[in-house]
Amino acid sequence: MDMAATEPRVTMDEITALAKRRGFIFQSSEIYGGLNGFYDYGPLGAILKRNVKNAWWRDTVELRDDVVGFDSSIIMHPLTWKASGHIDAFHDKLVDCRVCKHRFRFDHLKDPNQCPDCGSKQSFTEPRNFNLMMKTQIGPMEDSASTAYLRPETAQGIFVNFKNVYQTARKRPPFGIAQIGKSFRNEITPGNFTYRVREFEQAELEYFVPDDGKDLEIFREWVDRRKNWYAQYGVKPDRLRFYELTEKERPHYAKAGIDVEYLFPWGWGELESIAHRGTYDLDAHMALSGKDLRFFDEASKAHYTPILIESSAGMDRTTLTMLVDAYDRERSTDPNGKATDRVVLRFHPYIAPVQIAVFSLARNKPDLVERARSIEMALRPSYRTQYDEGNIGQLYRRQDEIGTPLCVTIDYDTLEDGTVTVRERDSMKQERVPQSGLERYLHERIGA
Ligand code: GAP
Repeated sequence: MDMAATEPRVTMDEITALAKRRGFIFQSSEIYGGLNGFYDYGPLGAILKRNVKNAWWRDTVELRDDVVGFDSSIIMHPLTWKASGHIDAFHDKLVDCRVCKHRFRFDHLKDPNQCPDCGSKQSFTEPRNFNLMMKTQIGPMEDSASTAYLRPETAQGIFVNFKNVYQTARKRPPFGIAQIGKSFRNEITPGNFTYRVREFEQAELEYFVPDDGKDLEIFREWVDRRKNWYAQYGVKPDRLRFYELTEKERPHYAKAGIDVEYLFPWGWGELESIAHRGTYDLDAHMALSGKDLRFFDEASKAHYTPILIESSAGMDRTTLTMLVDAYDRERSTDPNGKATDRVVLRFHPYIAPVQIAVFSLARNKPDLVERARSIEMALRPSYRTQYDEGNIGQLYRRQDEIGTPLCVTIDYDTLEDGTVTVRERDSMKQERVPQSGLERYLHERIGA
């Protein structure tokens, strides 16, 4: 096969179509016409997102002695959001077009005098504040005392529990608390597929450090760790940037801030924010609750409020990044000189929903089917596998499109000489491997 130049960058329409066709992501409640800003993850998407979350959790929690895991409730005491500033200040400014009635985020308008949808000039209403928190109600009474909010970030669950955690986990700063969970924001203009949605998952690390002058150094260390994380799972470095916020762009209490951005088909978009937040969050909860959340240092017998370094990454955005970044379309010529297109997702093996596909060359040959199924079952405890059978060209095509790094084919020769064909996704190279050495061969290629 002769590989020709790779096609231009994938469009979001192609990503959306592939995501639906192969069962990665569907529009929520599709049979009722969908619900704007909500998505469902299909069988492959659910695994893909879980792999992304596991990769984050493994690096941030499991491999570290100084970070503990956490899981707080989605609905918290409403005063939480008073202290955090979300009730008073978690607003976007919105405007309505008086002609077409469409609603826009004021800061997203390229031209504040002209409606991008109907083209009318000077048709906008005055900008007004719109709180992004989703409201709900606790208990049967619909009064203001029962109003609660779906959390707009997971971080606050960690802050209000800071003392519970450090006391029970027996940790002292510097140490971190991490959690992954759902957050909700009533976005005015959801869009770009799962990039801006109203229900999403965040992976947040709140790292508490003593006020001993090393806080900025520790901030930089976390930025480097997060850089390495994206690199480790194969996100292309030229599509990733770490934008350093200027003093003007940062909140007044923050000493440093970095936005991690990915170059999506429509332009740069934020995946994660890493921030030095000073003592702002714990101070705010201490002031409103009247409870002492300071750390008590046994050695000096003194209380102090630790400084906070936060890394907050969107798991839906990171999953979308993996999908977009892995996407490749190749034009190749088959042995008969016919040009064909191959769509391939070049996922890192840890991220790929299916790691190894095992095929029987024929459907109706019990010997082959049985052998292939037993090989697949034997690999299952160590890898994410899938069994399939039939036309080998079509099987390869399907696995390429879902990003399976390796395919193992059982054919008539397998029954004769005990060898199988292993085909590699990226190079499309095929190798005959003895069945007895298959596990080791696979392990060398994709780990586990
Ligand atoms: N606790 C800090 C915090 O929540 P943020 O920058 O507002 O910071 C962190 O959010 C990350 O959460 C973002 O970088 C993004 O990846 C994700 N996120 C925020 N709003 C989102 C939305 N509407 N849809 C999908 N992901 C979102």
